Amino acid sequence: MAKTKSAYFCQNCGHEAAKWLGKCPSCNQWNTFVEEVIEKVSSKVPAWKTSTATSRVNKPNKVDNIPSITEERVSTGDQELDRVLGGGLVAGSVILIGGEPGIGKSTLMLQLALSIPGKKILYISGEESEQQIKMRAERITANPTAQCYILTETSTQNIFKQIEELEPDLLIVDSIQTLHSSNIDATPGSVSQVRECTSELLRFAKETDTPVFLIGHITKDGTIAGPKILEHMVDTVLQFEGDRNHVYRILRSIKNRFGASAELGIYAMHSTGLRQVSNPSEILLSQRDEELSGIAISATLEGARPMLIETQALVSAAAYGTPQRSSNGFDTKRMNMLLAVLEKRCGFRLSTRDVFLNIAGGIKVEDPAIDLAILVAIISSHEDIFISSKICFAAEVGLSGEIRAVNRIEQRISEAEKLGFERIFISNYNMKGLITEKYKIELSPVSKIEDVFSLLFG
Ligand code: TYD
Ligand code: MG
Repeated sequence: MAKTKSAYFCQNCGHEAAKWLGKCPSCNQWNTFVEEVIEKVSSKVPAWKTSTATSRVNKPNKVDNIPSITEERVSTGDQELDRVLGGGLVAGSVILIGGEPGIGKSTLMLQLALSIPGKKILYISGEESEQQIKMRAERITANPTAQCYILTETSTQNIFKQIEELEPDLLIVDSIQTLHSSNIDATPGSVSQVRECTSELLRFAKETDTPVFLIGHITKDGTIAGPKILEHMVDTVLQFEGDRNHVYRILRSIKNRFGASAELGIYAMHSTGLRQVSNPSEILLSQRDEELSGIAISATLEGARPMLIETQALVSAAAYGTPQRSSNGFDTKRMNMLLAVLEKRCGFRLSTRDVFLNIAGGIKVEDPAIDLAILVAIISSHEDIFISSKICFAAEVGLSGEIRAVNRIEQRISEAEKLGFERIFISNYNMKGLITEKYKIELSPVSKIEDVFSLLFG
């Protein structure tokens, strides 16, 4: 009988150790090590032509002598996805799509599989039956244009057998956690199994120049092997996020070997699948006729894309001793910092007030340029003063109440102007080198919060 070999793996980051450890030396998480059988078998059938990969000998090559090739891009037929990928699919690239359950990963991928023109696509599902996928396909599109094949299989060896017969142009795996390779004895979803299956698919992609999409699960507490260990192996990592109760979904690129990271695609989830949103600002700004306090608009930049986003605040007397602070789509710690700045620098008494914050559309904003709009929304609600819907803001706020410059200000100003805003508040420091005559929109440079308030409220 063959001797079984096992090792301990951190279920959080994939760190491998020979013995059990209480604390992972790599990610510092406690009690994350689990024993996994990893019996390596060299004599069994090679998974994906393993022999060819090892028999090739590479020689060192001078950079000047390496021929430069511009990788060809294939459009996915989905402008948002193309943008996030950096201009389309690259042959042989492996793309990992992560996201919480139910956010729409399978929907996005099936929609892609059904709409790429002129390609043979193999969609491997280890989670849903053919019937379930068929039902979803019917929901998404009435007349599929592509040749899309569905395979419900979880063994990589069987999958590769089918691939050799079908020779698809694109492979989609839903999800990587359900696959298992017989080269390894560990259970599907365990770190070593996920790693093995990914490296087999990676070899397949590189040797046949077939792009591969992998769907990966993330859990909030990270109990199962999240895609963290995969992120290093694959070429591109995309994250699909959003609030499940809202229609908007954001596809964010976190890592991209073939394009800029921090790119962004926006979708809306309808009953008939995902729709691309090409004019996000117009949707994220609510059409209001009434004069409501507590609303301010921020000219933010997500990836390379300017977006005008509505921030809403509600400040009310605290019903209990400790005031409540909660925010949706914005970091609560940062909100607390902004409140402290208001309290200390401007003398607003907010410590006895509940403060609620909301970013319209259920999207998350990380751009610091939203700071000023949030401050203004809070004060607008606190003082019950209406801010004109023709004004927007783009600046970061520092700890001493100074208004700081933000990047790519020209783009933000142009977008605001395009959408019909009449005035934009920016940092004084952003005025350097700015060609002000170019814009019809009124620029209000400010350097302290007090300046903003005196300009706004007189
Ligand atoms: P799904 O793609 O299964 O999510 P994931 O693969 O990330 O777990 O999508 C889940 C949700 O999307 C589900 O709650 C139903 C909703 N949905 C729609 O609203 N419209 C549709 O056309 C489809 C197919 C799904
Ligand atoms: Mg799914």
